[in-house]
This record gives sequence, C-alpha cells and structure tokens, in this order.
Amino acid sequence: MLPCRFQLLTLGSQHKLYDKTVRHPMAMKFPLASAFVKTFIKSWINQVEDCEVLEEVYESFSAALTHIEPQIGYKIYTFDGGSHYHATKETVAMCSKGTTGLRTWQACLALCQWATDNNHIFKHKKVLELGCGVGLLGCVISHLCDKITLTDYHNSVLKAAQHTLDVNSVSNGNVSVLDWSRSCVEDDNLDIVVAADVVFDPTIVPDLVKTIKNKLRYF
Ligand SMILES: C[S@@+](CC[C@H](N)C(=O)[O-])C[C@H]1O[C@@H](n2cnc3c(N)ncnc32)[C@H](O)[C@@H]1O
Repeated sequence: MLPCRFQLLTLGSQHKLYDKTVRHPMAMKFPLASAFVKTFIKSWINQVEDCEVLEEVYESFSAALTHIEPQIGYKIYTFDGGSHYHATKETVAMCSKGTTGLRTWQACLALCQWATDNNHIFKHKKVLELGCGVGLLGCVISHLCDKITLTDYHNSVLKAAQHTLDVNSVSNGNVSVLDWSRSCVEDDNLDIVVAADVVFDPTIVPDLVKTIKNKLRYF
C-alpha cells in the first residue's frame, strides 16, 4: 500500500475525523445538506486516494447520493471553540424561493464571531435584528443579551428564522415581520440594532437607514 499523501488521514485518523464531522452528535441530531456532505466526502476520498478509505465514508457518500432534498440541511456553527453550538436549516443555493435569506452569508459569520468576542456589549440589552435570514446571528446574540427580535420581510425566511429559534431552544427571542420600505415607528425602546449582509442593492439603503433611525429614536 502506498503511503497517504496526508499523514493525518491514516485509517485511525479518518475514524477520529469521521466522528468529529459526519458523525458528530450535532450532525446526527441535525442532518447536514447531502449536497454539502457529498462535496466534503469527495474531497476526503481525493485526499486519501492512494491508500485505504474508511468504509463508513463510502457508506455516508452513497447515503448522500440518494437523498431526496440534497440542497437543504442543517449547518452547525460554533464561535467559542465548541462551548455553544448553533444549528440552522439552510439551503446550499445562493438564492432560493426568490430570496437570498435562506442561507447564512459570510458577513454574518464575521458578525457572530465579533459579537461573541465582544459579548459585554450585549449584556442586559434589548436587540433588534434586521434582515435576519435563517437567524444565525440572532441565535448567537440571544445567548448574550436580555431579549432579541429577529425581523425580515420574506415569509419563508421568517419561518426558517423561527425554526432556528425553536431547534436551538431560544426562549428570549422572537421573530417578527419588518419590511424597511413599510417600516412603522413603534415604541420599542431598543438598545441595539444589528444587521449582517443586508445591503446588496444600493436603492434599498434609504429605507434601511430610515428604519434604523426610527427604531433607535429613543436611544
Ligand atoms: C443576503 S441575506 C442576509 C441574511 C442574513 N442576515 C445573513 O447574513 O446570513 C439579506 C436578507 O435581507 C432581507 N431583506 C432584504 N430587503 C429587505 C427589506 N426591505 N425588509 C426586510 N428585510 C429585507 C432578505 O429577506 C434576506 O433575508
């Protein structure tokens, strides 16, 4: 047998990697998108093509191939080295059901990490999230603040965000419809407004700014 191209991927190491990824307890509880699993395992097989691939890896690969909804599944995130995990059900596609909100975007991950690293900012605060998408940021911040409202204007996105709060047992958060172009002034008494990756079209900026101003008028 030829030596592995990557020393780490001996059979023993593959077992450990398999248990920490494909068979991670969170991935067992919240099944990942099979399209994502397929890509991950393909690259795994490529890395160890010159030596033995763990049997279970092939089994997971064929299970991913036969899945009926390959583009949808859970993603598991952690921003504090594994003390807290957050599960979101997402699509792999950039745009689905006419919205970009059914997946988590890169800027959101950066803001989740920033919020975790600067958690004191959210302590005892009432927070509003605009354009929440599947709700990862709101879910992360819910652990740091007193109360958070996740808002969006797309019906499927609002359902996905509610699902995220439910599966992560978030009890101090709620989901509400808020369209920046129809924004009404409410007596929210908010402390902080957050939003990640919401300005992709410059024409919506005035509405977004108006909404932030309205929402923070008591600040
Ligand atoms: C690119 S996604 C970002 C989702 C999430 N914040 C993230 O970073 O993963 C943009 C989000 O903004 C929402 N959005 C766009 N225009 C909006 C508007 N006028 N009112 C409320 N939400 C809006 C979309 O529905 C979508 O969920």
